[in-house]
Parts: sequence; structure tokens; C-alpha cells
Amino acid sequence: MRKVLLLAIGICFVLSGSSFAFHDAGVAHCNGCHTMHNSENGATVGGAATGNPWLLTDVSPSDVCLSCHATGLGAVYGADPLAPPDLKGAGNFTFLDEDNLNDGHGGATNPIGGDAAGHNIVAPSAGLAADATLAAAPGGTYSAAVLGCSSCHDPHGNTNFRLLYGIGGIQANSFTFLNAAPVADGLSVHFGSESQTNHTAYQSGMSAWCANCHGRYHQQNSGSDLIHRSGMNLGGTWASNYNAYNGTNDLTGGVQATAYLAEVPFEDPANTTAGTAGPVATSDIMCLTCHRAHASSAPNAGRWDFSVTLLEEDGLESGSYAIPDPYADPDQRSLCNKCHVKDVGDHVTTP
Ligand code: HEC
Ligand code: HEC
Ligand code: HEC
Ligand code: HEC
Ligand code: HEC
Ligand code: HEC
Repeated sequence: MRKVLLLAIGICFVLSGSSFAFHDAGVAHCNGCHTMHNSENGATVGGAATGNPWLLTDVSPSDVCLSCHATGLGAVYGADPLAPPDLKGAGNFTFLDEDNLNDGHGGATNPIGGDAAGHNIVAPSAGLAADATLAAAPGGTYSAAVLGCSSCHDPHGNTNFRLLYGIGGIQANSFTFLNAAPVADGLSVHFGSESQTNHTAYQSGMSAWCANCHGRYHQQNSGSDLIHRSGMNLGGTWASNYNAYNGTNDLTGGVQATAYLAEVPFEDPANTTAGTAGPVATSDIMCLTCHRAHASSAPNAGRWDFSVTLLEEDGLESGSYAIPDPYADPDQRSLCNKCHVKDVGDHVTTP
């Protein structure tokens, strides 16, 4: 009995103590990721039998990160795309392993491969390769051949949200970011999962940050630039729609104090990880209103599947993981309706 108790106290200490940190909002000890001679006790280190120019402990930057982060510490690359780990915000790279993501009509016979699930990180040891379709970031020039964890996160650490790069050179100065890191607050990577009262609190700058690679996808629908608004104010009409909308079955029953939907987030400096408040007119719509930053079980890293009519159809044609419907209603339509309410009169079954 006493032994068990002591053990439990020991575990608590490890979990809460600094010994469970690594990056510590700065550069971690170098040999967590580097090997000076590619040799330890006379044997080559990790999977790096052939070594690499950055003296890393595995064949690629992403493989090094995945050695700690694949199934633990955020579990960004779960082992089974049909049973993904707890969601922390970014989605999951496990969906890159799907053979079909197409849940649109005829999806079973017209497969859309897993590389459309999101960002294809190049990690040979983990069996992940560059996107077969997209050679560069749509809207920009960043090459898909060098996309990996250290394309977005600074391996040498910083004080930004999730160690994301700010303005300056990345990957040994092979590419330059022109826009600052986003301001946000995330869940612990050690425990918990996304819910309506536990979620990333997006505050500002995400669209501009994505635009470091996706260029013109940012901003507005005006003149010849025919794209959906992003990184801009929602405006009163759309903020009111968002707040009133409580699903296809309840288009006007929502109130601002509880309207927040983690599946369709927005940016606001007042957002908190436990917050439930919906937007005001000056809150921003942004890239992650509709996308996950890593990957999802829908094409184009959608937070919901953009190709299904009813959310309950997700996963049926493709056999892929079904993204849960936050309203749990068989009549629930696309979450674009959270702001646009085009599902008027579409509820047919009695709830
Ligand atoms: C979390 C993993 C990690 C840690 C810890 C780490 N590095 Fe690195 N380092 C990398 C990766 C990955 C690269 C390859 C370049 C890239 O992808 O950005 C790299 C590249 C480098 C480079 C060459 C390119 C450049 O940016 O100048 C140097 C020099 C370097 N690291 C030194 C260090 C030193 C010194 C430490 C300890 C104080 C350290 N690193 C700690 C992951 C790490
Ligand atoms: C030796 C294990 C180890 C390796 C290798 C490693 N990490 Fe981590 N990482 C951790 C631990 C432990 C934490 C949680 C505590 C902390 O932030 O130091 C963490 C936290 C993080 C976080 C969340 C930080 C936050 O502020 O919420 C990110 C993002 C991250 N790591 C990215 C990376 C990337 C990118 C690489 C590869 C360049 C990498 N890690 C390599 C152990 C590792
Ligand atoms: C370091 C550069 C870089 C950054 C930063 C970046 N991306 Fe990408 N993105 C790419 C590249 C390269 C591709 C094409 C290769 C691929 O899809 O794997 C891509 C593809 C995509 C795709 C299409 C996926 C598919 O296969 O259909 C979406 C959606 C996307 N990015 C959204 C975002 C969002 C949202 C952000 C900000 C959170 C972001 N990107 C930040 C480089 C980047
Ligand atoms: C295209 C840019 C991009 C790439 C590539 C990328 N990340 Fe992230 N990552 C992000 C962003 C943005 C967030 C915050 C997402 C949110 O909260 O919505 C994030 C969140 C995280 C977190 C916090 C847990 C979570 O799921 O939200 C960890 C840990 C992490 N990344 C590690 C990694 C590792 C390891 C890799 C490579 C295997 C990687 N990232 C590749 C942009 C990227
Ligand atoms: C209102 C929702 C919404 C917002 C906001 C949004 N996207 Fe998209 N995005 C989509 C949809 C839906 C698609 C699927 C293709 C289409 O309908 O154009 C898509 C497709 C993409 C693609 C794939 C394009 C291709 O050629 O395969 C990329 C890359 C992308 N988005 C990046 C971004 C970035 C970066 C931002 C922020 C600057 C952003 N998106 C904001 C909904 C959105
Ligand atoms: C968070 C709120 C929000 C979400 C979610 C959202 N939109 Fe929008 N949408 C807006 C706002 C705000 C505008 C007004 C932009 C403007 O006036 O240029 C807009 C404008 C549009 C327009 C009209 C553009 C014009 O010039 O009139 C279309 C079409 C559209 N959205 C489609 C979609 C689709 C499809 C989705 C889901 C993939 C979606 N929206 C999700 C907020 C949203």
C-alpha cells in the first residue's frame, strides 16, 4: 500500500516538475536532437545510419520530433487513423495514412488519398513523404519537398505560441517569414482534449502567419482578388448569425455568452481556453476557422468535411474516421451555416 502511494507521489512529481519539460520555451539540450559523431557506444545513432548535414539523431528534422511527439506529448501522429488520439487543436498527421477521404457522392469509387488530409511532413523513418499532388504551397512558393515540423516550429525554441516561428529566416535561412507568429493560448500537451470549454484560444495573427507560405490566400474578397475573407473582422451581421445559430434544428436559439463552437473558432483578444463566448463584430474570421493546422480526416484539412451534405454522412463513403458532429443531430448540415444560416427549413426529422 505504502509503496503504491509513494509511487503515485513520484509520478505526480515527475508530471508537474520541470523534469517533464524539454524545450522550456527556449533551446533544449543539444543532444536531445543532435549527435556529434553519429555514434553512441560504437553504434550509429537512431535511424540515422547514413547521417545528415545537420548532425541530427534521425534521418530528417521531422523524424527527430516524432521520436518524442508521435504518440505522446501531444500525440501528433497517432498509430491508427480510425482511432486518432485526443485532439489538442492542430488535428492529427495520422490521417495522412488514410487510403480514402472522399465522403462526397460516389466517394467510395473515387478515392481521394490521405495526402490531401493536410500538411505532408517529410519523415522517411515514419514512412511519410511529400504531397504527391501539390508541389508547393497553394498561393505561395514554399516547396512541399522540404515541408516538416521545422517549417513551422522553431527547433531551437522561442517564447511564441507553440514555438512557431516569427519574422525572419527559417530552416537554416533557406526561407524567410515576413509575418509574426500568431497570438494564442493552447492546451497542455500532457493531458486533456478539445471540447467546447477546453480549446485553443485564438487571439490574433493566424491568417497573416499562414500567409508566410500561402501568400494571397489571406485577406479579402474585393476587386480581382476573389477569395473568402480571412484575417479580417467578421462584421455585425455574421457575428450575430454565429451567436444565434445553435444547429440546423435551432437556427436562432443561441446567445452570445454560450455561442462559441470549437469546431468553428474565430480570433478575438478576449478569447480564453475555457471561454464559451461567441464573437463580436470586430472578432476575426481566420484560416483555422475552417482548417486544422496539421491534418484532419477530411480533404484540405477541413475542420468538418466540406463535401458532405449532412455531417452524419462523414466517413460513410470513404470508411475514414468520422469527424464528430458537435450538434449530434442527423439533420445537421455544413458548419458554414454557423455564420451563413443557409439551412433555413432544412430540419426534417423530429429531434
Ligand atoms: C528539438 C530539437 C533540437 C534541439 C534541442 C537542438 N537542435 Fe539544432 N537543429 C535541429 C534541427 C531539426 C535542425 C535542422 C535545421 C532545421 O530544420 O531548422 C537543426 C540545425 C542546427 C544547426 C545548423 C543550422 C542552423 O540553424 O544554424 C546548428 C548549428 C544547430 N542546430 C545547433 C544546435 C545547438 C548548439 C543546440 C543546443 C544549444 C541545438 N542545436 C539544439 C533541432 C534541434
Ligand atoms: C526528447 C524529446 C523531444 C523532442 C526530440 C522534441 N520535443 Fe517537443 N516537447 C517535448 C516535451 C517534453 C514538451 C513539453 C514541455 C516543454 O515544452 O518543454 C514538448 C513540447 C513541444 C511543443 C509544445 C510547446 C508549447 O509551448 O505548448 C511543441 C510545439 C514541440 N514540442 C515541438 C517540437 C518539434 C517541432 C520538435 C522537433 C524539432 C520537437 N518538439 C522535438 C519533448 C521533445
Ligand atoms: C512553411 C510553409 C507553410 C505554412 C506556414 C503553412 N503551410 Fe499550408 N501548405 C504548405 C505546403 C508546402 C503545402 C502543399 C503540400 C501539402 O499539402 O502537403 C500546404 C498545403 C496546405 C493545404 C492543402 C492540403 C491539401 O493537401 O489539400 C491547406 C488547407 C493548408 N496548407 C492550410 C494552411 C494553414 C491553415 C496554415 C496556417 C495555420 C498553413 N497552411 C501554414 C506550406 C505551409
Ligand atoms: C504548417 C505548419 C505546421 C507544421 C508543418 C507542423 N505544425 Fe505543429 N502546430 C502548428 C500550429 C499552427 C499549431 C497550433 C494549432 C492549434 O492550436 O489550432 C500546432 C500545434 C502543435 C502541437 C500542440 C498539440 C496540438 O495538436 O495542437 C504540437 C505538439 C506540435 N504542433 C508539434 C508538431 C510536430 C512534431 C510536427 C511535425 C511532425 C508539426 N507540429 C508540424 C503548425 C504546424
Ligand atoms: C470560410 C472557410 C475557409 C477559410 C476562412 C479558409 N479556407 Fe482554405 N479552404 C476552404 C475550403 C472549403 C477549401 C476547399 C477548396 C475550395 O472550396 O476552394 C479550402 C482549400 C484550401 C487550400 C487548398 C487549395 C488547393 O489548391 O488545393 C489551401 C492551401 C487553403 N485552403 C488555405 C487556406 C489559408 C492559408 C487560409 C487563411 C489565409 C484559408 N485557407 C482560409 C475553406 C476556408
Ligand atoms: C466565422 C464565420 C464564417 C464562416 C464559418 C464562413 N463564412 Fe463565408 N463569409 C463570412 C463573412 C464575414 C463574409 C463576408 C465577406 C465579404 O463581405 O467579403 C462571408 C462571405 C461569404 C460568401 C460571399 C462572398 C461575397 O462576396 O458575397 C460566400 C459564398 C461564403 N462566405 C461561403 C462560405 C462557405 C462555403 C463557408 C464554409 C466552407 C463559409 N462561407 C464559412 C463569414 C463566414
